[in-house]
Amino acid sequence: MQRVAVIGAGTMGNGIAHVFAQNGHAVNLVDVSAAALEKALQTISKNLDRQVAKGTITEADKTQTLANITLQPEMAAGVKDVALVVEAATENVALKLKIFQDLDQHANPETILATNTSSISITKIAAVTKRPEKVIGMHFMNPVPVMKLVEIINGYATDKAVTDTIVTLSANLGKVPCVVNDYPGFIANRILMPMINEAICSLFEGIAGVEEIDTVMKLGMAHPMGPLQLADFIGLDVCLSILNVLHDGFGNPKYAPCPLLVNMVTAGYLGIKSGEGFYKYA
Ligand code: CAA
Repeated sequence: MQRVAVIGAGTMGNGIAHVFAQNGHAVNLVDVSAAALEKALQTISKNLDRQVAKGTITEADKTQTLANITLQPEMAAGVKDVALVVEAATENVALKLKIFQDLDQHANPETILATNTSSISITKIAAVTKRPEKVIGMHFMNPVPVMKLVEIINGYATDKAVTDTIVTLSANLGKVPCVVNDYPGFIANRILMPMINEAICSLFEGIAGVEEIDTVMKLGMAHPMGPLQLADFIGLDVCLSILNVLHDGFGNPKYAPCPLLVNMVTAGYLGIKSGEGFYKYA
């Protein structure tokens, strides 16, 4: 599998493009915003600089990785003749369904269509295409160049040969693939988000402060970030949206988002991206 297309040049999209390009794939990075494409390339270049400084790649590897990436504002041109599309657009159901209808129309019939969605049903996305057997979840973790996991999600109709291809491909990218089935939150967020929600509820109930909650989990459980710091990193709006998917999907009150989380999102305190969440960012 050589040329791939990545749809969306945000945090996840640029990380995914980085990893494919660094592992010898030609990558069409597609975004309607020219400014977003330029910013993504700068971010990839900066992240490659970290790797050069660390000595894990050479300056020549960096140059080759950047040369493997083509910026493409047009979806139809960007997905033409690629073996795989990885969609990493904003986490919005209507937008993703529209993108998959367009991808189905413009990509070759044999092209595999993967989505990096963190919680939208793969089966639902696949159902708007004429190739549901070739639609699969390929859920990378942030920061993509660093995190080893790719959670691979089989939709109801995903063909086993497609899953096998994506497992092999993920391993060739230096990642560890884990195959799971398509139910709300898959595995990563079904387990992560209730933990984050419980941390927010503990704060809401006044049981401990932000620093104490994060320190308990960092030093007591060896988590690299405490749950509140991680929520800021992921984005509080994203956390809320995933909790709503779990709550609606299972109809179980244990997934109900903490009122403090709802209030913070309503007020625009979204974490790192807005400058303040549980912590303040300069
Ligand atoms: N690109 C490339 N390299 C990067 C990078 C990036 N974007 N960000 C960090 N790095 C590298 C650094 O260069 C450094 O490399 P070395 O170890 O080789 O020196 C390493 O990662 C660690 O970085 P830092 O020293 O700057 O910072 P840190 O030690 O505090 O680690 C972290 C940062 C890797 C983000 C760490 O805090 C961590 O693992 N946090 C948890 C991240 C996590 O849980 N991610 C999943 C979120 S959930 C999700 O993504 C999916 C979802 O559906 C919500």
